[in-house]
Amino acid sequence: MRKQIVAGNWKMNNDLAQTEALLTDLKKLEQTSGAEVMVAPTFTNLYHAFESLKNSSIEVIAQNMHFADKGAYTGEISAGMLKSIGIKTVILGHSERREYFNETDETLSKKVDTALANDMRVIFCFGEQLHDRKSGNHETVVEQQIKNALFHLEASSFQNIVLAYEPVWAIGTGETASPEQAQDMHAFIRASLAKQYGNDVADATTILYGGSCKPGNAKELFSKPDVDGGLIGGASLVAEDFFAIVNAF
Ligand code: 13P
Repeated sequence: MRKQIVAGNWKMNNDLAQTEALLTDLKKLEQTSGAEVMVAPTFTNLYHAFESLKNSSIEVIAQNMHFADKGAYTGEISAGMLKSIGIKTVILGHSERREYFNETDETLSKKVDTALANDMRVIFCFGEQLHDRKSGNHETVVEQQIKNALFHLEASSFQNIVLAYEPVWAIGTGETASPEQAQDMHAFIRASLAKQYGNDVADATTILYGGSCKPGNAKELFSKPDVDGGLIGGASLVAEDFFAIVNAF
């Protein structure tokens, strides 16, 4: 059976003291589901969070990284740097990275290659804009994003790829995709994977939903057969809400 995952993307939130407080709250909570749980603090708090959660079942992951191994890339972070503090998973392709930092399918494809070459696991994000959905192009847009960044990979690489469908119109807006919209898209993505790599890869690949996933809607979203968990923004900043989602399976 494929893995169920709930990952909290803290984005550019929480200074050190706030991070410590959230970590303390998280450690008090009990997990009743079998999902893998991850949190992605901002870079300055990654090492602290890693040390703090070392003996817990929560994995600390990164929000981004550069494709180069090292060099003159002011402000950037490499895979090797992340690995040197124990980080083994990185989020790539978030729509905010695409929109505000001009990340393209081409740069993302390089980042994916670098992460995999460093034995890291990738949570690869993609999703359509509102105008794509309104014009009925959402499946074409999503398929193109996945193809351009991932379909050069060998089938075996998918052991280290988690997909995260995040419709841009649902991120931070309070407007979530309906469970049926999420299921339809996840089934479509799985069918594209099956076309390219066969059923074994398609069936084994975890596909997360992200976009205004909250304690109140997680259960219904996660009950859909192709929704294997969530990538959580706002609700992951409150420990009780995040764990309500973790335990929604
Ligand atoms: P929200 O849960 O705040 O909508 O954010 C989703 C997201 O972007 C997770 O990466």
